[in-house]
Amino acid sequence: MTTIRIRRLKCSDAGEAGALIARTYRTFNRHDATRKGLAGFLRHYDPSNGLESIREHLLRTPLRYVAVHNDKIVGVIRGFERYIVNLYVHGDYHRMGVGSQLLARYLYCCRRKGVRDIKLRATSYGVPFYQKHGFKRTTGVRMFWGLRIQPMKKML
Ligand SMILES: CC(C)(COP(=O)(O)OP(=O)(O)OC[C@H]1O[C@@H](n2cnc3c(N)ncnc32)[C@H](O)[C@@H]1OP(=O)(O)O)[C@@H](O)C(=O)NCCC(=O)NCCS
Repeated sequence: MTTIRIRRLKCSDAGEAGALIARTYRTFNRHDATRKGLAGFLRHYDPSNGLESIREHLLRTPLRYVAVHNDKIVGVIRGFERYIVNLYVHGDYHRMGVGSQLLARYLYCCRRKGVRDIKLRATSYGVPFYQKHGFKRTTGVRMFWGLRIQPMKKML
């Protein structure tokens, strides 16, 4: 069995975590984005755009965790108490429970803070995962800064 450790995302993780998000979005989600939307998204995460700004962007969210396997970051979740901004798992680790472990840690923290509901903007690829975890669509599909997104919500 693959042993995955979930820990808080540190300042020094920014390059690796940003690269994981950028690579995973390009591989699984790029069809959700217009050309401009993709460039705008990658600007925040691709370390080739400057590590300092990626670090600043990733550390902006108070809740942030990584999944680690053999000292390598294989998943990232981050956001605010009532809003998940990112959840990305390396393609080699899909369907192994990594996303579920990251989400469980995140929701545990939210519950401890007394949060009653949590929202997110899912990619089309992410919708079945979130449905499996009890999230419901709140509207139809929308465009948000050139990205096709599905607003979803879960009551905690
Ligand atoms: C969505 C994502 C985070 C899920 O991570 P994961 O580690 O593969 O998910 P898990 O293994 O914990 O999956 C738990 C359950 O969710 C459902 N699920 C996960 N991925 C699914 C998929 N591609 N299609 C259908 N159901 C899926 C399944 O019910 C799965 O249980 P099962 O494998 O026993 O059938 C991952 O696929 C990913 O990073 N995708 C690309 C980025 C993305 O779209 N992120 C969402 C941004 S909002």
